[in-house]
Amino acid sequence: MKKFIVPILVSAGAFTFYMCSSAKVVLSTPGSAELTVAQKTWPSANLQSLEEGRVIYTSKCNTCHGLKNIPNRSEDSWKHEIDDMAPKAKLNTKEKDLLTQYILSTREVQSVK
Ligand code: HEC
Repeated sequence: MKKFIVPILVSAGAFTFYMCSSAKVVLSTPGSAELTVAQKTWPSANLQSLEEGRVIYTSKCNTCHGLKNIPNRSEDSWKHEIDDMAPKAKLNTKEKDLLTQYILSTREVQSVK
C-alpha cells in the first residue's frame, strides 16, 4: 500500500506547488481603481477599453512565453518592452494603445499595495 501512497503524495505536493507558483500573475478584470489611474493619462479610457487591453494581454502575449508579472517592472521598463513586443505579437496601433493602458494602470494599482 505504501508503494502507492508515496507517489500520490509527491505528485499532489508538486501539483499544489505548481498551482501556487503560477498564481502569482494576477489578472482580474480591471475595476474603478485602474480606471481612475488610466483616466489621468487617457481621459477616454473606460472599463471596457481596459478589459479589451486585458484580453489582448492574456491572448496575444503568452504565445511565446508565459505572462509576465505586471507589478514587477517599472513603468519605463514596460513602455520599452511593449515597444519591443507589440510587433512580435503583431498588434496594430489601437491594440498596442489598449494594451499600454491596461498594463500601466494595473501596474500602478498593484504596485501601490
Ligand atoms: C513571437 C514571440 C513573442 C510574442 C508574441 C511576445 N513575446 Fe515577449 N518576448 C519574446 C522573446 C523571444 C523574449 C526574450 C528576448 C527579448 O527580450 O527580446 C521576450 C521577452 C519579453 C519580456 C522581457 C522578459 C524578461 O524577463 O526580461 C517582456 C516583459 C515581454 N516579452 C512581454 C511581452 C508582451 C507584453 C507581449 C504581448 C504584446 C509579448 N511579450 C509577446 C517573444 C515574444
